[in-house]
Amino acid sequence: MNMNVLEIDLKENSYKICIERNILSRIAEYLDENYSSKKIAIITDDNLAKLHLENLKRVIEEKGFNTKIISLKPGEESKSIDTLKEVYNELSQFRLGREDLIITFGGGVVGDLGGFAASTYLRGVSYIQVPTSLLAQVDSSIGGKVAVDLPWGKNLVGSFYQPKAVFIDPELLKTLDKKFLHDGLAEVIKYGCIRDRSIIDQLMNYTKDEELLDNIDSLIFKCCSIKKSVVEQDEKDFGERMLLNFGHTLGHVIEKYFNYKKYTHGEAVAIGMAEITRKSEKLDITEKGASKCIEEVLKKYELPYKVPAMDKEKAFSTIFLDKKSSGENINLILLKRIGEGVIRKVRFNELEDYI
Ligand code: GLY
Repeated sequence: MNMNVLEIDLKENSYKICIERNILSRIAEYLDENYSSKKIAIITDDNLAKLHLENLKRVIEEKGFNTKIISLKPGEESKSIDTLKEVYNELSQFRLGREDLIITFGGGVVGDLGGFAASTYLRGVSYIQVPTSLLAQVDSSIGGKVAVDLPWGKNLVGSFYQPKAVFIDPELLKTLDKKFLHDGLAEVIKYGCIRDRSIIDQLMNYTKDEELLDNIDSLIFKCCSIKKSVVEQDEKDFGERMLLNFGHTLGHVIEKYFNYKKYTHGEAVAIGMAEITRKSEKLDITEKGASKCIEEVLKKYELPYKVPAMDKEKAFSTIFLDKKSSGENINLILLKRIGEGVIRKVRFNELEDYI
């Protein structure tokens, strides 16, 4: 399988995204060519440590680098200030310097927390992202959004800090639990909804997960291409980039309401996309049939699409902390049709018409 490469053009912060099966030797070559320093801290999680980490460590050490593994407990609970402090502690003990490198090797939590540690430790250390979940491969590893959660909301402390490179190995997805593969598919479906209907058509054509996994490289490439164009136009998320939050306003409410235990991020976003489109269709903003199309693809990949019972007041109280809100308004992402998303500023008191 050939390597696909995309270049994110952000002037002096530009970098390459390489998509290739069995990419480890490519990573080792890149490190050898680009880093003369000898220390690399690999931030990962305990699940990866059991599976693929040894291979990554081996190819890096064969190039003469001294590595230190920092392994987090898997799950959103690790994306905290407490864990971050432990990571700083381990980086200090390793005496990682500003000329050294951090590799984040894991899913969204590892990439977000590891990237934030890189952006702040010693006022910034270079890092590369090696995302291992579908969600991280198509979304969170690209674009430099790094963060940790606060007890009262997700991603409330963070920065924009671009990696030096992103290496994506679709082969790694074969060892993901089905639940987490489908979790990431919700973000793939999101890209289809906001920009490229062919993504949804492609997903509807596969008959089983094996077929999806055999062809997933092209889906990853399409999603990363959309992310590239959006991030290049609006790196700091003041306009176009907000499109990537389709389904996320209600999604974040649902995740938080159930304490991140009942629904994965993708499942909550799936419900968010379906619900906002049902409502915007009723309001005649969205072409008829769009919500049915979303429901069908979600159903096919066993993702939820109905809003669970929640106490409205409690559920909506978290929305004021949403980063897409300002003053009396919030920016919602709606579809004109499948393949075309739009940003609409809505007053908080109108919110119930939409989600
Ligand atoms: N995951 C949304 C963004 O990167 O803007």
